[in-house]
Amino acid sequence: MNMRMKALKHHVFFCSSEHCNNQETEPVMEAFKEQLVEHGIMKEVKINKCSCLGLCGNGAFMLVYPEGVWYYDLTPEDVPQIVEDHFVNGEIVEEKMMMRLGS
Ligand code: FES
Repeated sequence: MNMRMKALKHHVFFCSSEHCNNQETEPVMEAFKEQLVEHGIMKEVKINKCSCLGLCGNGAFMLVYPEGVWYYDLTPEDVPQIVEDHFVNGEIVEEKMMMRLGS
C-alpha cells in the first residue's frame, strides 16, 4: 500500500448527477476542498463524484465513509462546520445529516 492510501481516514462522495448538480454540488465540493487544505487534512480524505443516489431534490449530498453518514441539503456555508466538527473533531453534524447507514 502506498503512503497516500495509508494516510486516508475518510472517503467522501458527492452526487454529481443532473438534479444535484443544480443544487450547488460544485460550489459545495470546492468549499470542502478549501476547508481540507485550510485544516491541513487534504491527504486524509479521498473525494469522488458519484451518480444519482435516488434521493433527488435533497442535494447537495455528501456521503462520508467509513461512518456511513449522508449529509444533505448542503450549501457552501455549511461546509466549514462539517469539516471542523466531523473531519477534525470526529463529531457528526446532526442537523445536516439525512441518515447514517446501519442505524
Ligand atoms: S441526482 Fe443526486 S440523488 Fe439523484
